[in-house]
Amino acid sequence: MMKVALGVTGCIGAYKSAEIVRGLQREGVEVWVIMTRHAQEFIAPLTFEALSGHKVITDMFAPTKAETPLQAHLEIEHIALAQAIDLLIVAPATANVLGKFHHGIADDFLTTLYLATPAPCLLAPAMNVEMWNHPAVQANVQALKDRGVHFVEPGAGYLACGMEGQGRLADVETVVAAARRILGRRRALAGERVLITAGPTCEDIDPTRFISNRSSGKMGYTLAEEAVARGAQVTLISGPTSLAPPPLAQRIAVRSAEQMLRAVLDQLPENSILIKAAAVADFRPAQTRPQKIKKDLPFTEIRLEPTLDILREVMRVKRDQLVVGFAAETEAVMENARKKLLEKDLDLIVANDVSGTQSGFDSDNNAVILIDRAGEVDQVSRRSKREVAVCILDRIERLLQRRRSSAPQTV
Ligand code: CTP
Repeated sequence: MMKVALGVTGCIGAYKSAEIVRGLQREGVEVWVIMTRHAQEFIAPLTFEALSGHKVITDMFAPTKAETPLQAHLEIEHIALAQAIDLLIVAPATANVLGKFHHGIADDFLTTLYLATPAPCLLAPAMNVEMWNHPAVQANVQALKDRGVHFVEPGAGYLACGMEGQGRLADVETVVAAARRILGRRRALAGERVLITAGPTCEDIDPTRFISNRSSGKMGYTLAEEAVARGAQVTLISGPTSLAPPPLAQRIAVRSAEQMLRAVLDQLPENSILIKAAAVADFRPAQTRPQKIKKDLPFTEIRLEPTLDILREVMRVKRDQLVVGFAAETEAVMENARKKLLEKDLDLIVANDVSGTQSGFDSDNNAVILIDRAGEVDQVSRRSKREVAVCILDRIERLLQRRRSSAPQTV
C-alpha cells in the first residue's frame, strides 16, 4: 500500500484537508497527517486522527503512544517516515512553509521531513491574493518548481479575507488527482533499467586545452532524476559538467567521445532504455600533444579527425533496447531530426532548436519536438527542463506499453 504524508499548515483552507485525507484513502493510499502549530488553531488533530487512523504528528519530539512499529520508530526518528512515504503533500501550504521549503529551514516536523525525504513533493498553496502575487512568494514557488516540486495552483474566487482573486486552496479533487498522477508515475518505470548520457565531451588538444561545446548536461541530469522518481534503475554516463550527481542514480564520469562510447557499450546489455542526451563531439584533434603548446611555436592549425558516432555503434549491437536520441539543430529542425531518427535507427528523437539562447544548450528551459518511428509528432512548447523531462518520459512509457502490448505472447 502506498504511503502519503499530508502536511497541514495554518490557514482557513485547513478544513478541506480532512476531505483530502478521505480522497486519498479512496485511492487506496495510507495517510499520515502532520500538522504545524498554527494549523492546530484552525482544526483539531483529533479530526485527522479519526480519519487517518494514525496518531497525528504535531511536534518533532512529542511523546506518542506507539501502536505500530513505524509509529514507535517515529517517536525517536522522523527519518523513518521520511523513508517510508511515497509522496509528501502539503495542503494547504502557506506562504511561510513555501519560504521555509525553498530555503531549507527545518524548525518543525514538517519542514524537517521535507529535507529528509527522497519522496516527491506536492504543494497546494493557499493565501491572500496579495501574498500569492508577491514577488517573494512567486520566487519561492519558481525555485521549488525548478527543484522538481509539484504544485496545484490556488483557485480564483472569493477569499476568506474578503478579497477576490487567486489564493483559494484548489479543489479537493484536483489535489487528489495530482497526487494520483505522481503516485502512478512513481511505479511506472519500476524494474526498468535506464541508461542516460549527458553533457558535452571534451577532446584534448594538449594538457591545458580542449575542444568542447556549450552543453551543460542539465537535460540529461533532469531526465535521470525523473527516471529515478518513476522507480527506474538509472545509470548516467556524464561528460564533464558542474552538476551534482542525481541521488540514487549511478554516475559514470567520462571525458572524451571515445570514453563515452566505451562506457555506453559496456552498460548497454544491462539496460532496456537508452537515452542519448549527450552532445558528443563529432571531431577530435588527430593528435593530443603531451606537453603544453607554447605560443612562440608557429602553431596555427589543429588537424581534426572524426569521432565514432555512438548511436551508430549501438545500432550494430543492440537487441531489444528502446533507443532515444536527441537532435541539436539550428535550422530545418523537423527535417534533420527525421533523418537522424531513421539513419540512427531510433525509436524516438527529441529535436532541439539550439539556435537561440532562450532554450536548449546551457539554458534552464527547453522547447522540443518529439518524433517517433510511426511518425507521431508532439510539440513541447518552451518550459523548464524538468517539465520537458516529464513529457519525454511520459512518451517513452507510452512507447514501452505499445511495444509490450504488440509483442507476441508466449504461453
Ligand atoms: N551522437 C552520438 N555520437 C556522436 C555524435 C552524436 O551518439 N559522435 C548522438 C547524440 O548523443 C544525439 C544524436 O547522436 O543523441 C544526434 O546528435 P547531433 O549532435 O544532433 O547530431 P550529429 O549526429 O552529430 O549530426 P550533425 O552534427 O551533423 O547534426
